[in-house]
Amino acid sequence: MTQLTVLILAAGQGTRMCSDRPKVLHELAWQPLLQHVISAVKPLAPERMLIVTGHGAEQVEQAFADQAITWIRQKEQKGTGDAVRSALPTLHGASGNLLILAGDIPLIRSEILDRMVHAHDAAGRPLTLLSTTLEHPTGYGRVVRGLDGEVQAVVEERDANAEIRTIREINSGIYLVALSHLEGWINRLNPNNAQGEYYLPDIVAMALEEGGIHAMHHTDSQSLEGINDRSQLARAERVFRDRKVAALMASGVTFTDPESCWVAADVTIGRDTNIAPHNILGPGVVIGSQCQIGPFCHLVDTTIGPEVHIDAFSHLEGANIVGHSGVGPFARLRPGALLERGAKVGNFCEIKKSRIGEGSKVSHLAYIGDADIGRKVNVGAGTITCNYDGKNKFKTVIEDGVFIGSDTQLIAPVRLGRDAVIAAGTSVSKDVPEGALAITRVPQRHIPDWHQRKKK
Ligand code: UD1
Ligand code: CA
Repeated sequence: MTQLTVLILAAGQGTRMCSDRPKVLHELAWQPLLQHVISAVKPLAPERMLIVTGHGAEQVEQAFADQAITWIRQKEQKGTGDAVRSALPTLHGASGNLLILAGDIPLIRSEILDRMVHAHDAAGRPLTLLSTTLEHPTGYGRVVRGLDGEVQAVVEERDANAEIRTIREINSGIYLVALSHLEGWINRLNPNNAQGEYYLPDIVAMALEEGGIHAMHHTDSQSLEGINDRSQLARAERVFRDRKVAALMASGVTFTDPESCWVAADVTIGRDTNIAPHNILGPGVVIGSQCQIGPFCHLVDTTIGPEVHIDAFSHLEGANIVGHSGVGPFARLRPGALLERGAKVGNFCEIKKSRIGEGSKVSHLAYIGDADIGRKVNVGAGTITCNYDGKNKFKTVIEDGVFIGSDTQLIAPVRLGRDAVIAAGTSVSKDVPEGALAITRVPQRHIPDWHQRKKK
């Protein structure tokens, strides 16, 4: 294969977003627009990835600081041709082909780019241009073809006459260029047009004189659409969701109502799992097979093993549920919640940074924080681990087989020994020995005839 370098243009202001944030940092499916483009390019295994920044450059570069990217600053945004010119010193001496695309086309798919690379090699011309046909081509550069069907030029909307504006074949803004020709072409660009900018598509005319151009028409126009405003962003969000959910359904997952669910790109779900309507499965969610996710749940960064029921209105973040158990309805699992096999967390319970051991149950109205709970423990309704003294957090250890009655406070640090029993209403402030009963309840008194006396 010929050497491939990638150049992503991301210096533009994104005026139509009406935002203080650079456009390419706006998120689609929990990821910046630019990340989607980077992810689509990566499988092509380019030699180098160059990204041109300008507007909000520092912010953009910082957001991708952990990735292998060569950043190029375009000082003034004088057009797409000028953006490519700013990369020329970095590209100097490089050979092979350059794939140029914009950072605001997050629906682009690797397969399309891959096909383009192969078509470019097969055609043997110095420029390949990817086009598509749109029902509403307003705003895009139009691909003008001669009577022989060969591409003659790309004309921007603002420079186009009425006849050209009726053309529905548009320039996708994705190009493959032989690096041996690029520098010469870019240096010949001029800003003699309606916007006074250096237009990259003007290299089309130059390629016609020098080696020829291959125009590759692609029918899936949706994948090539750019994001220029927030309505387009919301539409792209749906396209993205539809794709993701369709892929999951194809692999054996049931979605009762796919259109009411939102699923991040990296979510994986096992076979025969059912997802009820109105679920949000954010980044980092892994769900095993044969699970039931009830309606109105919100999951982020959570791993769920096989045969787990998550009932309605549960919120899970940073949790790990080993499998064969139930959570919710109305459960809240916070970061560091670990539910071992068969451990159950019921309604109106909050679990934070705690292990709930195998077969243990926290069924109703409890707060469990910074606790380590062993096997077969029963945590009664209204149990609170008092883990915080206003300054520091302390740990509660509950050994195997402990039974905790309702409405108890466990004042940490504290340890409940194996098989201990905590009477309902107890405030535990000292370690409880193995097998003991702990009770702090005030003995019940009866004051006779209270009702009668009050009346008087
Ligand atoms: C561009 C094409 C148009 C094509 C359309 C496809 C030109 C002149 N027109 O128009 O033919 O149909 O894309 O979406 O190229 N950018 C820079 N520096 C600049 C200007 C732009 O880095 O000085 C970047 C932008 O951040 C953006 C990309 O280049 O990611 C495209 O620029 P944009 O202004 O959106 O071009 P369009 O008007 O969409
Ligand atoms: Ca654009």
